[in-house]
Amino acid sequence: MRRSATLALLLLGLLVACSPDNTPGVDKQDLAGRRAACAACHGKTGIAQAPSFPTIAGQPTEYLVRAMTAYREGRRDNAIMNGQMRGFTDAEIQALAIYYHQQSSPLARHIEPDGAHTANDQGATQ
Ligand code: HEC
Repeated sequence: MRRSATLALLLLGLLVACSPDNTPGVDKQDLAGRRAACAACHGKTGIAQAPSFPTIAGQPTEYLVRAMTAYREGRRDNAIMNGQMRGFTDAEIQALAIYYHQQSSPLARHIEPDGAHTANDQGATQ
C-alpha cells in the first residue's frame, strides 16, 4: 500500500516536472501568449492550418528543439521561421517543444503489437 502511494507521488512529480508550464526560467503566461502567434499557421495544438505549413503536433521533443534552435540561429533558412524564433531563450524553446510534442497528431502512426497498422495509419502505408 505504502509502496504504491510512493510510486503514485513519484509519477505525479514526474508529470509536473515534464509539464511545459513548469520549465524553469519560463513565464507560462507569456509563453501561452506567444504560442497564439504560432497558432495562425500551425494551429492551436500544432496541426497545420494550410498545406504550406507543417504539422508539428506529436513530433519528438528533441527534433522540435533542434528545428527551432536552427531557425533562431539562422542555420535553417526560412524567412518566416527565422523571424518567428527570434528572441526565444533555450528554456522557452524547450517548453514549446514539450507542448507541441504532447499534442495528439493526425500523422501519428499507431502500430499494434503484432505489427499491424490501425486505420489511422492508412495514408502512410500506401
Ligand atoms: C506565418 C506562418 C508561421 C508562423 C506564425 C509560425 N510558423 Fe513555424 N513554420 C512555418 C513554415 C512555413 C514552416 C516550414 C519552414 C521550412 O520550410 O523550413 C515552419 C516550420 C516550423 C517548425 C519545423 C517543423 C518541421 O517539421 O521541421 C517548427 C518546430 C515551427 N515552425 C514552430 C513554430 C513555432 C513554435 C511558432 C510560434 C513561435 C511558429 N512556428 C510560428 C510557418 C509559421
